[in-house]
Amino acid sequence: NIHLRELFKKDEKRAEKFSLLDDDEDILLDFSKNLITKKTLDLLINLAKKRNLGKEIERMFNGEKINNTENRAVLHIALRNIDNTPIYVDGKNVMPAVFNVLNQMKDFTNRVRNGEWLGFSGKRIKNVVNIGIGGSDLGPYMVTEALKMYSKRDMRFFFVSNIDYAHIKETLFELEPDETLFIIASKTFTTLETMTNANTAKEWILKRFNNKKAIEKHFVAVSTNKKGVKEFGIDTDNMFEFWNWVGGRYSLCSAIGLSIMLSIGYDNFHKLLQGYNSMDKHFRTKPFNKNIPVILALIGIWYNNFFNSQTYAILPYSQYLWRFASYFQQADMESNGKSTDKNGEPVDYQTGPIVWGEPGTNGQHAFYQLLHQGTKLIPSDFIGIVKDFGNKDHHNKLLANLIAQTEALAFGKTEEELKNEGMDSKLIPFKTFKGNRPTNTILLKELSPFTLGKLISIYEHKIFTQGIIWNINSFDQMGVELGKILTKKILNDIVKNSKHNHDSSTNLLLNYIKKHSF
Ligand code: F6P
Repeated sequence: NIHLRELFKKDEKRAEKFSLLDDDEDILLDFSKNLITKKTLDLLINLAKKRNLGKEIERMFNGEKINNTENRAVLHIALRNIDNTPIYVDGKNVMPAVFNVLNQMKDFTNRVRNGEWLGFSGKRIKNVVNIGIGGSDLGPYMVTEALKMYSKRDMRFFFVSNIDYAHIKETLFELEPDETLFIIASKTFTTLETMTNANTAKEWILKRFNNKKAIEKHFVAVSTNKKGVKEFGIDTDNMFEFWNWVGGRYSLCSAIGLSIMLSIGYDNFHKLLQGYNSMDKHFRTKPFNKNIPVILALIGIWYNNFFNSQTYAILPYSQYLWRFASYFQQADMESNGKSTDKNGEPVDYQTGPIVWGEPGTNGQHAFYQLLHQGTKLIPSDFIGIVKDFGNKDHHNKLLANLIAQTEALAFGKTEEELKNEGMDSKLIPFKTFKGNRPTNTILLKELSPFTLGKLISIYEHKIFTQGIIWNINSFDQMGVELGKILTKKILNDIVKNSKHNHDSSTNLLLNYIKKHSF
């Protein structure tokens, strides 16, 4: 029974007390507009301590096999361990391999960017098409869009993920095969969507050149599966490796980020890694009450488990970050969407929330009505960039919208205020804003590879922290398997037109498809 209006009135220094800056003041987290007091925070921090969060962080950073169901280490932090301190898995230091691949990527991307690497007919590569899905698409796509200002503007980048032919067809429609390079990005190199699109791309190239040697010049692969890459026909010299201790949704700093490096160049990619690394260190070393990812995680738990809020929104006030919410939708929901704990027991508490969001200000004209006056509590993260992108007028208006929304959500508009303004009494019930709707505001000094790396790392470690508190394995994804298996059976029914014997709904749908497929 607290209201943010009262909390702010009671303590004029509330914002100072409930906000954090990272080391270089690149990022400000204001969490004062949350339904918490110092006591709430102390209790939540005690919860984190009881769950041995500190020890668990060390276990991850030390390469222990914390992905217990798959018996794997979880070492995305090694991919940005730019200090090159050794990290061991099964007694072997993984860092030399990490740097080897990074150098291979550097060499390759330099050659493509400076025109040394040419297509089969001797033309320069102008288009790069990343074919991948899930973690092999969302991360590179999000970052390539976010850092467009740093990109090589005479090259274009495309991301094909959907198995729907429309995706690759419409992408290839505007491209010249002679100038196009495909990156087949797949950890397993078996994913149906990716392999189907990769084969279509291969046919497209072979149709143009009618020579298998052209594949070498127009295809490279990013994978852990050397055999699969070879079988597809890609020269394994043009394969960029990563390892089973990198989860797909945490892989954008690995070779999966090849399209990013092609777009922004090695130096900027390295700055991205530095940004991640700086936040990794913050997460590992800061006490919980000064630790940005931990605080965000605990606040998330507060609403998820104590207010029973089902969802939270990520609302970046930046068009460059238009894929940010989609990226973290996978990272969060595939990691923490679990109902079995690490010991195989069903949980009797809520785990991962539904994550969604759109960039501001578009969202304001779409779904914010419900955030302000609906019956649901939707905690939201507002993300803003202070430095403008070349036009102060646009930018000031953008930032003013961000701040205004968080103010309105927190403090609302009372009946009394409306009366004092002379509002028609019949309209007062509709015009009243209760407020008390929680938000975090994250401000970045600027949007650069370095600050973006920090921002992504914050959310990754937030997800990790929540997984520890809920005692679930955030690093497997068994829940996506059943659909994949059933797809194979149903595809067989469709293609072979065989007699099928499913449930009545599945049969009905299949019969309709068969009747109307021309
Ligand atoms: O379907 C889930 C998933 O396994 C994700 O975890 C992964 O990011 C995606 O598929 C793509 O997998 P791959 O990189 O092996 O093609």
